[in-house]
Amino acid sequence: MIHLLTIVGARPQFIKAAAISHAIREEFADSISEDILHTGQHYDRNMSDGFFDELDIPHPRYNLGVGSGTHGAQTAAMLRGIEEVLLSAHYDGVVVYGDTNSTLAGALAAAKVGVPVFHIEAGLRSFNRAMPEEVNRVLTDHLSTLLFAPTATAVENLRREGFDEGMVIRCGDVMLDNVSHYLPCCERYSSLTLPEGPFIFATLHRDFNTDSRERLENILSGLYAAARRLGAAVLMPLHPRTRQRLGNFHITLDDTVLHTVGPLSYLSTLHALSRCQLVMTDSGGLQKEAFFCGRPVVVLRPETEWVEIVEAGAAILADAAPDRIVAAAERLWNTTPVLCGDFGDGAAASTILKHIILHFGHRGDASKRPADGQRMASGA
Ligand code: UD1
Repeated sequence: MIHLLTIVGARPQFIKAAAISHAIREEFADSISEDILHTGQHYDRNMSDGFFDELDIPHPRYNLGVGSGTHGAQTAAMLRGIEEVLLSAHYDGVVVYGDTNSTLAGALAAAKVGVPVFHIEAGLRSFNRAMPEEVNRVLTDHLSTLLFAPTATAVENLRREGFDEGMVIRCGDVMLDNVSHYLPCCERYSSLTLPEGPFIFATLHRDFNTDSRERLENILSGLYAAARRLGAAVLMPLHPRTRQRLGNFHITLDDTVLHTVGPLSYLSTLHALSRCQLVMTDSGGLQKEAFFCGRPVVVLRPETEWVEIVEAGAAILADAAPDRIVAAAERLWNTTPVLCGDFGDGAAASTILKHIILHFGHRGDASKRPADGQRMASGA
């Protein structure tokens, strides 16, 4: 039996971990067992526990309760807590997701105590080192034992950084596994009241957008102008960080255009995505989920890691410029993107777990590990 420790802390990781947990339970229960460690980076019920209940993820065995703080303080507290767990219990491998401070802390703690690190969503790059997420993902990739890259672009990014080909596995995107599974039933379980008529679904939480008064005001003015031009309402769930900054800057939202709600559950998010006409966001995950649901996206950032979506004509980078936001919204308003095969076939979790089993030599025996250089190359 292979014992894995899955490390999560922030909202997008609970969603990605759901795909892996379900695949372990349904396909690999005889060879893999999993404990979950929650760093406590996100702690409000609607940013954390709600997802475990809704997505039927096993409740965390460990919760470090780290909470908010500066990057250094938050990451250091996680590092200390994760190391304690890894020194007190035996795990054959640690699974980390994406690019948050929880991801970096998990990878670093495991690498230092000699536990293999499996990075899901490896190889993503914005090439913008001012983003904390870019620093986290680059470092995590370089601490990892196997790198599970969702797309060909991610594989290519890793190849250019000199990774051994045998460490990199193109596996597709676990978020597509979830959308394929939950989209047909999301409406039944959603408690969301949608605006009447065609609407824009918007989210905003990146620190470089929320912590700059100028960018925040520019994005809002672009959003209002686009909505008025298109005769659309805007539905916007507010991240706690965004709500705090709006308060700090004394910015009052225009509620004749904007319907704000608290952070949404996963199924309510899918419900909104499946019924909106257009998405505007600075989130990475939501860009993909919109694409998987056939909705175009105005990206409120200067660049994106998910270049395939831009290349498919389904997303436009508008940054925080009001005129670019309006032009992109008008251009995309009546388009319905068609999903290409770049993100795999909706069975990424299964591919990932098969490769983890292969890494440990043969089914069910984690003590038989291949020597370096004998690792499996890409499947999907
Ligand atoms: C983090 C990730 C980001 C991810 C995002 C998803 C890092 C560096 N960033 O950003 O990559 O896209 O999660 O949401 O790891 N807060 C609450 N309640 C909560 C959580 C946060 O009030 O449950 C507030 C706190 O005041 C906190 C602020 O939001 O200081 C920001 O939270 P933090 O976890 O630092 O980063 P996110 O902006 O959520």
